[in-house]
Amino acid sequence: MCNPSAGRHPGHRLRSTRAGSTWSVPLPSVSRILTTVIRTLHSDDSHTTSTPSMTSTSKPDIVQLLLRDRPAFHRGGDARWDSLPETLEAIRAVVKPGDSTIEIGVGASTVVFTNGGAEHTAVSPDPEEHERVREYCRQIGVDDSRLTFTVGFSDAVLPTLLGHDRSLDVAFIDGAHSFPFPALDWYYVTRSMKSGGTLLMDDITIPAVTQVFRHMRLEPNWRLEGILDERAASFRLLAPPPPGDDWPEQKYNKGYPDFSFAALPDRLRLEVVARAAKLRHGLGQRYPVLRSIRQRVS
Ligand SMILES: C[S@@+](CC[C@H](N)C(=O)[O-])C[C@H]1O[C@@H](n2cnc3c(N)ncnc32)[C@H](O)[C@@H]1O
Repeated sequence: MCNPSAGRHPGHRLRSTRAGSTWSVPLPSVSRILTTVIRTLHSDDSHTTSTPSMTSTSKPDIVQLLLRDRPAFHRGGDARWDSLPETLEAIRAVVKPGDSTIEIGVGASTVVFTNGGAEHTAVSPDPEEHERVREYCRQIGVDDSRLTFTVGFSDAVLPTLLGHDRSLDVAFIDGAHSFPFPALDWYYVTRSMKSGGTLLMDDITIPAVTQVFRHMRLEPNWRLEGILDERAASFRLLAPPPPGDDWPEQKYNKGYPDFSFAALPDRLRLEVVARAAKLRHGLGQRYPVLRSIRQRVS
């Protein structure tokens, strides 16, 4: 669950890193800081409205509308744990009418999926959040007839909700952030995603999420499309992951054997022994005669 005391969702922030940027985030320049300050002042002015509204002449962009209205969907209507603007914008940009989409967690992002005309399923344990999102959609005139809420914890719901049919076009993981939920959510979502589908993940700075991010970043079947709000990531699935337990092939496991659990003197001994064994194995592969001599003498 979200931990509001940790400041996980401090309300919307402003764009500072664009979608499509690389993982390395440049140090902020003076002009960038000034721009951010000016935009922050401007944004605070423009977000004082609390009543949901649409102008009569033109339909506002859904993300702008959410930023203006600031509906509180979470914790009994007292909290806003919303995803940040670039993330909402990325969802808006990628979702097409009729897409099959899923989201773990509920909130502002659910409104954006729904507004995009997706056949959208959102999973969370709190039915009150669901009602609040529906109510807001109705207030702003967003058709919620293709929105389905599933009440429950993702680890219980996803194994039956999602199969291996690779039918999902877009998915967003922003549910429970404690270990191992991000990895569980990622597993079930991934096995159901189309090649070419987009998977977005919020809160990659939380270590339980970071480990999933690192794995995706290293695997050739995922392409990082962008870092959003300096906190979320968008990936494209290029091909299904290879079947079976291919752990030695996974770059995430490159550090094998990892003796970091051991105290320093033991760790050094274990590492030396492991390196010697690896060297012996390598030499045996390269020079089979050495291997047969060793087998004879041992
Ligand atoms: C950070 S909020 C999601 C914010 C949302 N993306 C938005 O833009 O407003 C986290 C959500 O995860 C839900 N949640 C918490 N634990 C969960 C679990 N185990 N399975 C599914 N959802 C969970 C919460 O009820 C909440 O809706």
